[in-house]
Amino acid sequence: MDDESFRLILRFFNLSWRGYRKVRKGVKKRIARHTQEYGCRKISDYLLLLQENPEIADKARKLLTVPISRFFRDERLWEVISASVIPRLVQEIELSGRRPVRVWSAGCSCGEEAFSLKILWDQIGKRFLKVPPIEIWATDTNPEVLEKARAGIYPQSSLRNLSSYTLQDYFIPVSNGFSIREGFKGEIHWIQHDFISESPPCMNFDIIFLRNNLLTYYEPPTKIRAFVQILTALGTGRFLIIGNNEEIHTEGLPLKRCSEYRCIFEKCLAPLSRRDRGGSQTPNGGSRVARDVASPRDEFN
Ligand SMILES: C[S@@+](CC[C@H](N)C(=O)[O-])C[C@H]1O[C@@H](n2cnc3c(N)ncnc32)[C@H](O)[C@@H]1O
Repeated sequence: MDDESFRLILRFFNLSWRGYRKVRKGVKKRIARHTQEYGCRKISDYLLLLQENPEIADKARKLLTVPISRFFRDERLWEVISASVIPRLVQEIELSGRRPVRVWSAGCSCGEEAFSLKILWDQIGKRFLKVPPIEIWATDTNPEVLEKARAGIYPQSSLRNLSSYTLQDYFIPVSNGFSIREGFKGEIHWIQHDFISESPPCMNFDIIFLRNNLLTYYEPPTKIRAFVQILTALGTGRFLIIGNNEEIHTEGLPLKRCSEYRCIFEKCLAPLSRRDRGGSQTPNGGSRVARDVASPRDEFN
C-alpha cells in the first residue's frame, strides 16, 4: 500500500500519520490484506466500504491499533512510581480512609502495564509499606488483546525488564512463555472499552495510565475531546501518567508536571499559571491553545 492511500485511511479514522512512523510498515500490511479481502482495487472503493459498513470499519479500526507493550516499560517511570507516587498515595489514602486505591490502565494491550503495577504494589506492601488494597480497571478497545490479558501468558521478550526473583515470584514457566501465577490474577477488571467514544469506566481514579495510545496515534480534535473526558475521571491531587515519547501542553488544563519525572502529572483544582505549572511546555515558551493540547513529543525534536 502506498503512503498516500495509508494517509487517507488514517485521516478517515482521525489517526495521526506521524504517530504511526515506527510501526507503519506492519500496519500497512494488515490494512492491505483487509482491502484485498473485500476486493477493493482502489483506495476510494475501500473508503466507501468503510463509510457504508460500520462493522467493516470497526474491523479496520482494530487492525490499526498497535498492541506493543512490555512489563515495566520505561524503567525510570517505574522507579519514580515506586519511590514517590505510591508512598504519597498510600499516605493520603490512609488519611482519607477511602479504599481501595483505584487505577485505570487505559489502552492496556495484553495487560503488561496493569500487572506491572500490581507486582510493584505487592512488592512494596511486602517490603516497605502497609499498602491498602488496589483495584485496577484495565481497558482496551481490542477484544483480542483483552483475551490474552485474561490468560496472563507472556513471551520472554515482554518480560525482559523483570529480575529473575520477580519472574520466579509472580510467574510460572509454560510451554509458550511465562504465565502469571493463578492467585495473582484477581482485582483487575478487564473491560472492552473505547476511550474515544465511551465515558470513562469509573470515576475518581487515583492513577490513570494513558501511555502510547491516545496521545500518539490520534489527531485533534478527537484526541483533545477524549483527553479532556479522561481527565474528568481522575481525582484531584491524583496522578496521570503518559508515555515517554509523548507530551502534554498543560496550559489551560488542571495539571501540574511532577518534578521527578516529566511523564507524571498531578491533577489540581484549577488550571495553573505559567509559573506554577512546572517544566517548560514548549521549547520557545510560547503559548499553545487547546487545539494542540497533547501530541507526540517528536514534534519538538
Ligand atoms: C501501544 S499499546 C500501549 C499499551 C500500554 N499502555 C503501554 O504503554 O505499554 C496501545 C493500546 O491502545 C489500545 N487503543 C487504541 N485506541 C484505543 C481506544 N480508542 N480505546 C481503547 N484502547 C485503545 C490499542 O488497542 C493497544 O492495545
